[in-house]
Amino acid sequence: MKTVDELNRIKGQYLGRKSLLGDFLAQLRQLSPEEKKVWGQKINEMKNRMEADFKEKYEQLLFTKRKEMLIDVTLPGKKQWVGSFHPVLIVRDQVLSIFQSLGFRVESGPEIESDFYNFEALNIPPDHPARDDQDSFYLSPNWLLRTHTSPGQIRAMQKLTPPFKVVVPGRCYRRDAFDATHSPMFHQIEGLVVATSISMGDLKGTVEIFVRRFFGPQRKIRFRPSYFPFTEPSAEVDVSCGVCQGEGCRSCGYTGWLEIMGAGLVHPQVFEKVGYDPKKVRGFAFGMGIERITMLKFGIADIRWFLENDVNFLEQFRTWR
Ligand code: PHE
Repeated sequence: MKTVDELNRIKGQYLGRKSLLGDFLAQLRQLSPEEKKVWGQKINEMKNRMEADFKEKYEQLLFTKRKEMLIDVTLPGKKQWVGSFHPVLIVRDQVLSIFQSLGFRVESGPEIESDFYNFEALNIPPDHPARDDQDSFYLSPNWLLRTHTSPGQIRAMQKLTPPFKVVVPGRCYRRDAFDATHSPMFHQIEGLVVATSISMGDLKGTVEIFVRRFFGPQRKIRFRPSYFPFTEPSAEVDVSCGVCQGEGCRSCGYTGWLEIMGAGLVHPQVFEKVGYDPKKVRGFAFGMGIERITMLKFGIADIRWFLENDVNFLEQFRTWR
């Protein structure tokens, strides 16, 4: 019921002369004095309760009506605020769809990993110095928050039969100081291709296609020799600086290049850990930081901005999607 008129009409139906209550009252006259006392009291109680309820409802209706009258109809309407996707998620999806268009499938893995998946199976034994590069959050001696998405390589190889191409996006954790370029929590995308004949040429071609599509057709790539225990040979991949087109400027530390990923051919030891015959299969793998490529693509100076929940920062990326 929405109006006082409506309320009064209903009130009449229940409490008026021609209501059920009116009938009861009329019949009272035919009763003996004792019965009259008992029934009269009951009917009165009922009447009082109903009247109290109607009064309450009446006041409620009056209150809402007054409130409605207080609204200034000349005020401009309130604009609905619509949120936007986080830039890291937008870029993640852009990267995934580039790789999907090349035939890669998307897999995922847990953020809590065992020593085996995060290190051991990736050819990083307990005493290996590579563990120092990835200061980790341990939950127990055997369990930790994954320091990279490379455990996704192991899980993919255990699950799938070659040949296959996968990308594995996800959150990673390292015990790094929180500064402009490091965050204890960040995102990576891992790539892995396993087939019978795979070479560095396949890796380079794939990365080149990705870089041109993601950063733009003018960009060049460069492979620098590097080291990862789970790839051999290993490389660090640079993309030419978009600010100076490779001339050298402040953005790229006057080198003309920006590092975007680690990569290489899958180490035979890794194949052995998952029961593949390294004589029969070859593969390439790469891993890149999503925050990092987002910062490079859009000139974001500080990784901490991704986590500050500053709407003015986040809203700028709405149109990317
Ligand atoms: N997992 C490496 C890192 O986090 C990157 C990488 C992935 C290197 C795959 C080679 C192959 O630094």
